[in-house]
Amino acid sequence: MKFFIDTAEIEEIKSLSRLGLIDGVTTNPSLIYKSGKDFKTVIKEISDIVKGPISAEVTSTLADEMISQGIDLAKISNNIVVKVPLTKDGLIACKELSLKNIKVNVTLCFSSAQALLAGKLGATYISPFIGRLDDIGTPGLNLIKEIVDIYHIFKDDIKTQVLAASIRSPLQVSQVAMMGAHVATIPPKIITQMIKHP
Ligand code: E4P
Repeated sequence: MKFFIDTAEIEEIKSLSRLGLIDGVTTNPSLIYKSGKDFKTVIKEISDIVKGPISAEVTSTLADEMISQGIDLAKISNNIVVKVPLTKDGLIACKELSLKNIKVNVTLCFSSAQALLAGKLGATYISPFIGRLDDIGTPGLNLIKEIVDIYHIFKDDIKTQVLAASIRSPLQVSQVAMMGAHVATIPPKIITQMIKHP
């Protein structure tokens, strides 16, 4: 199982990289905003530290703009994965960018039907949001299991990896691992909590 770190804080990324457990990084506009730095500068800095996949999210809601932003982001480094939202426009961008051999992380996934669409369109990763579902009283973990099972049934056609996102506890990391998620993107604080048993 791969572990991505869910942050745009350079010092946190540097410090956790020393552990050798970080296979990649996911960022989002809020995390970049919190870092207080320019978007492309942060993405470049991260890609210089971590050699695995770095998700960088588009900001437009329109397919054509997402595609041009995605092409632009992919030029920053060869390990950039373009993150697009699971909307109709995002799916169009996913298909077009994937056809150009640009890796795509389809984010903000809240149902297995949505995940099936992203899988059919060649997404490299699908990001189901566990914590956000829990917040509205829907068990997020069930979604991980459903998607892992569906993708497994169609494993000859769908190569998309399940990237469990919006993780809020060490327990959820174990739970998504048991369900067979390919990747968990984990906030730095939770990685620290995973190390130390009280
Ligand atoms: C994933 O790529 C997202 O950055 C992240 O997991 C968002 O989750 P949250 O906003 O619920 O913390």
